Amino acid sequence: MIQRILSVQKMYPGVVTPFNIGMHTAKMLYHMMLKDGVAPEPLNIDLKVTKRCNAHCEFCFADIGSGEELPVEAYSSLAKAFKKKKAFFITGGEPFLRADIYELFKAIKDEGHEVGAVTNSSLIKKEDYVKLKILDSLVLSVHGTKEVHDALLGVRSFDRAMQILHYLSRMKPRPYLLVNSVVNDGTRDKLGLLKQECRDADEFRVSNISFLLKEELKNHKSESRRRFGEEIVTTQYIAPDVPKKPEHIEGELYPDLTESEIVSWYSHKFITKRRCLYIHSSVFVAENGDVHPCQYYKYPVGNIKSQPLKEIWNSPKMRKFRREISAKLLPGCSRCCKLL
Ligand SMILES: C[S@@+](CC[C@H](N)C(=O)[O-])C[C@H]1O[C@@H](n2cnc3c(N)ncnc32)[C@H](O)[C@@H]1O
Ligand code: SF4
Ligand code: SF4
Repeated sequence: MIQRILSVQKMYPGVVTPFNIGMHTAKMLYHMMLKDGVAPEPLNIDLKVTKRCNAHCEFCFADIGSGEELPVEAYSSLAKAFKKKKAFFITGGEPFLRADIYELFKAIKDEGHEVGAVTNSSLIKKEDYVKLKILDSLVLSVHGTKEVHDALLGVRSFDRAMQILHYLSRMKPRPYLLVNSVVNDGTRDKLGLLKQECRDADEFRVSNISFLLKEELKNHKSESRRRFGEEIVTTQYIAPDVPKKPEHIEGELYPDLTESEIVSWYSHKFITKRRCLYIHSSVFVAENGDVHPCQYYKYPVGNIKSQPLKEIWNSPKMRKFRREISAKLLPGCSRCCKLL
């Protein structure tokens, strides 16, 4: 948990300060004790700015496709509504498919917030590398050495990711550079080699693959219907079988599982005492403005086109969701990377 906080602190040094974390935690614990489902203003806002993607990673949990996208002005208004500095994180789909992505970053920065983004790197043009300097953190997804990565995504982007790392690592000031590598068949035993190739990054993160098995999905559907009166649709990756666990982990494992948790994660049932704090400190806004408790659930609790996010954040539906998840996780929460 400490390791996770330190990493986020490097990504958003102005938001994740000991004072902010201390104040937020105290207020959060107070409401958890009251069991009222209320949470203090979020520290982090995740923005999925497009559903579109030019790649097709087989393990992808993002709900990708096509659909409405919000204009930059919508993000500008959203950012303006928060007086205190927040950590905005831009994701997708592939965010750089948006022609106005750099204006979007600027609109949020102009309101005084910190901004991070994650990308598969394939669409960032050489002449635009310099524009990435506006970000406070940049996460590059690199899922293997060149052949493995490019084959997995179905687009060539390994070389570009290395070029971006090399270019930005020599700049000052510059974003915190994090490589995120999801464990897969091609890298499981070659993480040391990959880490070496990504040496220009500030952090090399080895992400455990998030997944559900068919049986877990079935349980999730029935349990969510029973507890919420409707199915809470999960976008989680449904694996055909249990993936093999990583070997010789080099880098920061995410989530930072213990030895026994690793064995359990890569088995038919992940048993954990971990809790979800994400829904008490962060929120997920989808490309059409729908607000969801997190990236894994399509469970709209409001829409920023018709209601301020601050209001949606503690709406009756969101409060019920927090109360339920705090009492007991749903089967769909199993192997969620946000569990602490
Ligand atoms: C959903 S993608 C969106 C941004 C961009 N398209 C990319 O791939 O970087 C955000 C991050 O989630 C990771 N991811 C996707 N599916 C995953 C899974 N099943 N388990 C763990 N990480 C996953 C991706 O590798 C990427 O680093
Ligand atoms: S590039 Fe990102 S959004 Fe696209 S398929 Fe891969 S993980 Fe999913
Ligand atoms: S633990 Fe569950 S509710 Fe919390 S972020 Fe993960 S999937 Fe969402």
